Amino acid sequence: MPDDFERMWADLAPVGRSSASGGYFRQPFLSAEVELRAWFAEQAAARDLTLTTDPVGNMAAWWRPAGVSGPGVLTGSHLDSVLDGGAYDGPLGVVSALAAVDVLRARGFVPSRPLGVSVFVEEEGSRFGLACLGSRLASGALAWSDALALADRDGVSLESALDRSGLGGPSYEPWDLASTISCFVELHVEQGRDLVDRGAAVGVGSGIWPHGRYRFDFTGVADHAGTTRMEDRADPMLTYAMTALAANKQARLGGGRATFGRIDVAPNGTNAIPSRVSAWLDARCDSEAALSSLVEEVTRMATERAGRDGTALAVTAESVSPAVGFDPALAAALAADHEEGDWPVIPTAAGHDAGILSVAGVPTAMLFVRNPTGVSHSPDEHASTPDCLVGVSALADVLERLAR
Ligand code: GLV
Ligand code: MN
Ligand code: MN
Ligand code: MN
Repeated sequence: MPDDFERMWADLAPVGRSSASGGYFRQPFLSAEVELRAWFAEQAAARDLTLTTDPVGNMAAWWRPAGVSGPGVLTGSHLDSVLDGGAYDGPLGVVSALAAVDVLRARGFVPSRPLGVSVFVEEEGSRFGLACLGSRLASGALAWSDALALADRDGVSLESALDRSGLGGPSYEPWDLASTISCFVELHVEQGRDLVDRGAAVGVGSGIWPHGRYRFDFTGVADHAGTTRMEDRADPMLTYAMTALAANKQARLGGGRATFGRIDVAPNGTNAIPSRVSAWLDARCDSEAALSSLVEEVTRMATERAGRDGTALAVTAESVSPAVGFDPALAAALAADHEEGDWPVIPTAAGHDAGILSVAGVPTAMLFVRNPTGVSHSPDEHASTPDCLVGVSALADVLERLAR
């Protein structure tokens, strides 16, 4: 089995990798991600799994022995990446799931309920802006018409991207979760240093912090960078800059996280005061009340600053994900009784398709594999092969228990 994992991992290593940074560019429906999804279909076929692909490109490959039916145990993750992302965020869960199927077969195990490996589309929202797009559609949390209208930075709508990929269609039927999925387990690289600090190769997720994405549109007056007196300006870049400082301060004070990782400037010229700055705030806190108050406070400070700068501000909540608590009984069972003792049960401030399915009522668990760098959403993300193999056997064990 280690061979299977390492062979698959080697298959994926070059796909979408930037030779300049070593990071990955695997945006949905662009060449690298299309190649990865074709690879997944081949892996499913090689294992005789029955593949279903829905109109947005979500895939599930089912191991359904003769006479076995009813809701199944689903495991998997995603194959898309953030811009210049790491190798592990997403693909580790998919490759580990396929490797776990191989482990179970090598053990002679035959599931008595269906066992599926899933790939949800656009988990990162790096192309169309909305994280967990595929699982939101599958769970019925997002309407098809709203999804189709999303557009990427070049103005290409999801509808036309799907059309060009041979996907899409006039309607989308959310998955019938109750009759198809009895529980969902997502294995994922850890995106922080908790497991390193605790000396554990694997941890179990307790839940996900509530988080959201908010677009701040600052509008001012374009003018000449040389001839406009400093006191005569209405510069939205200045309001944005002060807002970024305020967000950082506010998050530190409240123990939350606030990041402006993306801005769009018009007209984006060195020698012109901008007419508009759009900036996306990613905010996360350990409670919904703390998240609301962080975002309210940043908005209040930005509005106050805009008043002083003579600029205008509009804030749009593009997506807000509630607090998620994974199935506590499942988490406790996963964590208990290992050779190394109990595994740590830890929360995460990263979003996952597992969170979307959990909110939709599916009993859900997550396994995290130690990341020695603690870095994620960056080329420096890492997990050692021995730790990945511990993750695969942990996943195989839980699947065996759940599908027995
Ligand atoms: C997705 O990985 C997120 O948490 O941003
Ligand atoms: Mn991610
Ligand atoms: Mn991920
Ligand atoms: Mn994620």
